[in-house]
Amino acid sequence: MKDRWKILMAAPLLLLLPLHTSASPAYDDQPARHSDGHTCVGCVLVVSMIEQLAQVHNSTVQASMERLCSYLPEKLSLKTTCYLVVHLFGPDIIKLLSADRNADVVCHTLEFCKQDPGQPLCHLYPLPKEAWKLTLEKARQIVEKSPTLKYSRSGSDICSLPFLAKICQKIKLAIKNSMPFKDVDSDKYSVFPTLRGYHWRGRDCNDSNGMVYPGRRPDNWDIHQDSNCNGIWGVDPKDGIPYEKKFCEGSQPRGIILLGDSAGAHFHIPPEWITASQMSLKSFLNLPTAITDELDWPQLSGVTGFLNSTNGVKENSIYLRLRKRNHCNHRDYQNISRNGASSQNLETFIESLSRNQLLDHPAIVIYAMIGNDVCNGKNDPVPEMTTPKKLYSKVMQTLQYLNSHLPNGSHVILYGLPDGTFLWDNLHSRYHPLGQLNKDVTYAHFYSFLSCVQVSPCLGWMSSNKTLRTLTTERAEQLSNTLKKIATSEKFTNFNLFYMDFDFREITEEWKKRGGQPWQLIEPVDGFHPNEVASLLLADRFWKKVQLQWPQVLGKENPFNPQIEQVFGDQGGH
Ligand SMILES: *[C@@H]1O[C@H](CO)[C@@H](O)[C@H](O)[C@H]1NC(C)=O
Ligand SMILES: *[C@@H]1O[C@H](CO)[C@@H](O)[C@H](O)[C@H]1NC(C)=O
Ligand SMILES: *[C@@H]1O[C@H](CO)[C@@H](O)[C@H](O)[C@H]1NC(C)=O
Ligand SMILES: *[C@@H]1O[C@H](CO)[C@@H](O)[C@H](O)[C@H]1NC(C)=O
Ligand SMILES: *[C@@H]1O[C@H](CO)[C@@H](O)[C@H](O)[C@H]1NC(C)=O
Ligand SMILES: *[C@@H]1O[C@H](CO)[C@@H](O)[C@H](O)[C@H]1NC(C)=O
Repeated sequence: MKDRWKILMAAPLLLLLPLHTSASPAYDDQPARHSDGHTCVGCVLVVSMIEQLAQVHNSTVQASMERLCSYLPEKLSLKTTCYLVVHLFGPDIIKLLSADRNADVVCHTLEFCKQDPGQPLCHLYPLPKEAWKLTLEKARQIVEKSPTLKYSRSGSDICSLPFLAKICQKIKLAIKNSMPFKDVDSDKYSVFPTLRGYHWRGRDCNDSNGMVYPGRRPDNWDIHQDSNCNGIWGVDPKDGIPYEKKFCEGSQPRGIILLGDSAGAHFHIPPEWITASQMSLKSFLNLPTAITDELDWPQLSGVTGFLNSTNGVKENSIYLRLRKRNHCNHRDYQNISRNGASSQNLETFIESLSRNQLLDHPAIVIYAMIGNDVCNGKNDPVPEMTTPKKLYSKVMQTLQYLNSHLPNGSHVILYGLPDGTFLWDNLHSRYHPLGQLNKDVTYAHFYSFLSCVQVSPCLGWMSSNKTLRTLTTERAEQLSNTLKKIATSEKFTNFNLFYMDFDFREITEEWKKRGGQPWQLIEPVDGFHPNEVASLLLADRFWKKVQLQWPQVLGKENPFNPQIEQVFGDQGGH
């Protein structure tokens, strides 16, 4: 745990938190160098931002640091913390950057990046012209006896610095929340948006009553209160019939539940956070919320998102479509996604799925562990990948768990794994946001830096080694075939089981037809996750395929939708 806090040291902006959570399942035993890698990436990231801000605004390094802090919001003491960190460690960074050393040199000099004996030298930018050893020696002379160096050598816990205690607490909470958790109490819904509140599952409409929550069958037709939070309750004064009975009886309401990984959680680091030329006061307004949501943005996601897309794509999430089809489904969504989730660790958090077999409506469960069974950051990733046999046995366990928790009449859809070769194919020669200003860092460089410091979220696909990329794809195909086999051969009493390919090529084609480029479907900062547009296009494909092949999964269109709107308006919103 301790190493994790070093991240903070190098990254006053906490930008490392996401890299950490995405790259490595928190429940995985990590080799020591792994966390050093995060510190190194964090340092290079932050120093690059300072350097590039100075370049963009033609200002001194000192002014550039102050500018960076001034952009941060006051919330969570982010601004104050930034100034304190700058006060403590700024002078060394100023000395080095002012002497024209780049971020790689600065971070190696201050020993946030280390070259272990026998290991390659890890760098993001092109190497300086003179020999590395000489460069480093000269730079060391500039910062002899620096407080930063003393700090980085001590290896002490950054959170022991008094002024960081408060922000550390917040981050610890966020990390704790991103870890697998076991909360089996009945009251899992919340009126708070973040910290796994209603951004992750339907908003509770009465937090003081554990028997009131989205997805349950109405209690006494909701005459007195809205027991299922769908916004429909009370009695029609004209005829004395309860509205819930009138509008929802026989409409086969159902909820949507996603079991997902970071892609399912819509993991996202906005590029404006790290792109100097676009950085402004506005860039970081969403940072505090993002920290408390583990850098995931479920409220915008393709399956369970409920906010309008922020980038003009008109497609809606699967949840919004289900709601549109039958307004009685209002608020009945759960996004059980974890950064780092895979078939092998899903069991550690599946208990947060909340469905009562006797009291609740059936659900559509989407199983979308799309990457982490083949993605890891190990030096030799192939032996660490999940084997078809292991997958089979864990998925069967998951399905048995679902069978004992889902109401009869539910549906489970297993998503296959994508072919991640599109990452390299579409990105390797493009500039990473950090390389756009000076045209010096491509995704090929960025990937190689991440794997060198051993924090790559997916060494198998984010690699210049074609053999390795092909091997990774082959394993992904084997795993997809295993899922398909399970779906066709296994039967369960409480749900029907289906399999669907995760076909990134289809959505790429669709996007091209609209005049887009494939690279625009990938998160620019991490160069790995599908972005919001991709997620919504996938949701669109999903919906159309299900509608065509298995319409029973989606249920009927509710003819009372217009009346529900008339009487209940937006049904209490989300
Ligand atoms: C940058 O600032 C320096 C010193 O203030 C000035 O001499 C130089 O002309 C400026 N360059 C640009 C491109 O504005
Ligand atoms: C919430 O539930 C409590 C306990 O059942 C009840 O007293 C209260 O009236 C409910 N509040 C609303 C707004 O329905
Ligand atoms: C689930 O929530 C996560 C976290 O916000 C989000 O990234 C993801 O897109 C959501 N998944 C779906 C399918 O809605
Ligand atoms: C989403 O967009 C629709 C149509 O453009 C609009 O009517 C609705 O109010 C928007 N919803 C939100 C939450 O902004
Ligand atoms: C589940 O529902 C189906 C019809 O939808 C019914 O045939 C079956 O007997 C039910 N199973 C159980 C265990 O109640
Ligand atoms: C490429 O990856 C394969 C599979 O992991 C490995 O055997 C091979 O040595 C790698 N080639 C290079 C040049 O690293």
